[in-house]
Amino acid sequence: MTNDDRPWLVADTEQRAEAILRRPRRLRRTRALRDLVRETRLDVADLVLPLFVTHEAGAREVPSMPGVFQWPVDEVAAVAARAAQAGLRAVLLFGIPAARDAAGSAAELEDGVVQRALRAIRERVPGLVLVADTCLCGYTDHGHCGIIDASGALDNDATLAVLRRVAVSQAAAGADIVAPSGMIDGMVGAMRAALDESGFTDTAILSYSTKYASAFYGPFRDAVRSAPAFADRRTHQMDPANAREALRENALDVAEGADLLMVKPALAYLDIVRQTREQFPELPLVAYNVSGEYAMVKAAAAAGWLDERTTVLELLTGMKRAGADLVITYHAQDVAEWLGQGG
Ligand code: PBG
Repeated sequence: MTNDDRPWLVADTEQRAEAILRRPRRLRRTRALRDLVRETRLDVADLVLPLFVTHEAGAREVPSMPGVFQWPVDEVAAVAARAAQAGLRAVLLFGIPAARDAAGSAAELEDGVVQRALRAIRERVPGLVLVADTCLCGYTDHGHCGIIDASGALDNDATLAVLRRVAVSQAAAGADIVAPSGMIDGMVGAMRAALDESGFTDTAILSYSTKYASAFYGPFRDAVRSAPAFADRRTHQMDPANAREALRENALDVAEGADLLMVKPALAYLDIVRQTREQFPELPLVAYNVSGEYAMVKAAAAAGWLDERTTVLELLTGMKRAGADLVITYHAQDVAEWLGQGG
């Protein structure tokens, strides 16, 4: 920027320069003024509520995520109805299946937990947007996100074959959006082809396009008991140190047909949110405010160290300001209720 672009900086208008540049507090004086000049607004339509659905009877609170429950299939529709009542537009479903095996086969069952939950919610709250997480880690007995080969490594292409079937079964059960979260190369293209071949051309794909190998998933792995039994996820999830690689992942997923992109986790990766927004301004961008980020706020609030409401609103507003259109957050129900009361 040159001084020609900023005429108020030239010497002969110095007094105006002071007036404009040195008194930004003028616009912060009252609540109404602050509202008037606010650049980023958090709206209930920006939030997606994740829900854990279990085959077991009775709701169970996740110890490391106070306020978050594993819901039995026959209760989850009521929970979704309460979300819709508060103004939320979308829920994201994760399943805790009755049985796990090496191939994660419970993920593709017509009467699997997520498939049953999708049908139940669709019937009770027809207008709600239903998103299904498409990954195998909650369904495999070893806790990995796909098929493990004889050497103990994740077999990329064998996993794609399973993900194709899971996506189709979720679409058949009523998912509006399927969300592959395993960082398996080619997952978006494989799922798009499978959906199209089965006639589900209107089912959208939200790709977890940039997903880092993060310590912040710890509480989630408690919630679905999906911690890997051996090794870790660093051969498929991204190295937290890398940003340029995120742009490559995004470009591949867009080329394969992703309808929405995601950055996950959100808090330590707001620079990636911003860069993704600039790389693909035309696509909706989702930030995932993950389980560990939720747990940190809840723990500090419970100890009386942070004010929960203002902290959560500040965090989510920051994610939007960085460039996210939508935020997946376990705080969604609370925030929807707070926003309904005027923020
Ligand atoms: C499954 C998956 C994970 C999360 C969403 N989908 C966990 C993981 O990769 O281990 C994490 C969500 C959260 O921490 O809130 N691949």
